[in-house]
Amino acid sequence: MSKNRVLSGVQPTGNLHLGNYLGAIRNFVKLQKDYECFYMLADLHSITVFQDPKILRENILETAAVFIACGLDPKKNIIFCQSSVSGHAELAWIFNCVSRMGWLNRMTQFKEKAGSNKEKASVGLFAYPNLMAADILLYKASHVPVGEDQKQHLELCRDIALKFNNDFNKKDFFALPEPIIIKEVARIMSLKDGTKKMSKSEESDSSRINLTDDENLIEQKIKKAKTDSGMLPDNLNDLEKRPEAKNLLSIYSIFKKISLQQSIQEFSGKNFSDLKDKLSDILIKEITPIGKKIKEIKKDRSKLKDILMDGKERANQVARQTIKEVHEIIGLTL
Ligand code: ADP
Ligand code: TRP
Repeated sequence: MSKNRVLSGVQPTGNLHLGNYLGAIRNFVKLQKDYECFYMLADLHSITVFQDPKILRENILETAAVFIACGLDPKKNIIFCQSSVSGHAELAWIFNCVSRMGWLNRMTQFKEKAGSNKEKASVGLFAYPNLMAADILLYKASHVPVGEDQKQHLELCRDIALKFNNDFNKKDFFALPEPIIIKEVARIMSLKDGTKKMSKSEESDSSRINLTDDENLIEQKIKKAKTDSGMLPDNLNDLEKRPEAKNLLSIYSIFKKISLQQSIQEFSGKNFSDLKDKLSDILIKEITPIGKKIKEIKKDRSKLKDILMDGKERANQVARQTIKEVHEIIGLTL
């Protein structure tokens, strides 16, 4: 394992939002200083539910543009498409044979995404965590920055690594990767329901702040965000019982770089409208410049393709070596 290697991925399914930014991409940017980083557009993960090919193609380029607009340097980091490195699918197949049905049956994300109609879900959606383990272990990454919703998948990745090492008597072949989950930003909630996470797949666009939303949209969405009828509380205990208030105050604290406790003090006894006005201002200041950059960067499609092509080559160099070693270990080379 390389001790200082980071890998993470985001599905190119469009509508990247504040949760993706705070929970994942903003941390990718911070890590690029001290780690060798592999940042992947998880396109193979995204086709676990049907994607229109034309839209998928656009979303892949858009997500690459988001990475760069948020501050990832394509020279320093390896930015690439998962499907362009065949080692991901190859290692995922091998892990399909290492991982256990019982392990995957416990994955809560599958239960949420498959909903009541499990019989109709794709096999890929069920096996998705095995592919995610392959993404990480293909590069022998030491650290994986993600939001909290991915924690269970990271634990499964560690189980797969351990079982592989044990089954083939190769004690330290795959080292166990560590998640990097930043508590304060681990779960940004929907603006329509403070108990549900902000998500791309939520039907209502007003449930999330997209990175490409303009000033007016941000202002409207925050104005319409769900609230309850009380004044804002003066202590954390009371706040815990009020998920919408907690979510808005948390987002405010993150951008203001103050503690939740300090925001509680600032707004205690005030109306939601006071908080909403200030939150809108700060979101407009922080998010709209990113949106503008995304639009600008997206215009130069050939530059984006070049970045992904360069990433593909650099990622493949590492991936090929791991696949070679794995084939030797499991007896596939003669
Ligand atoms: P979504 O869940 O919206 O479909 P992805 O699954 O592609 O988004 O998530 C990409 C990254 O963003 C992951 O690391 C995930 O943990 C993080 N993330 C997604 N939604 C949130 C959220 N509401 N709060 C914090 N992090 C999030
Ligand atoms: N499963 C992640 C998500 O839906 C995306 C992802 C795919 C990922 N492969 C990864 C994240 C490897 C971290 C490491 O958000």
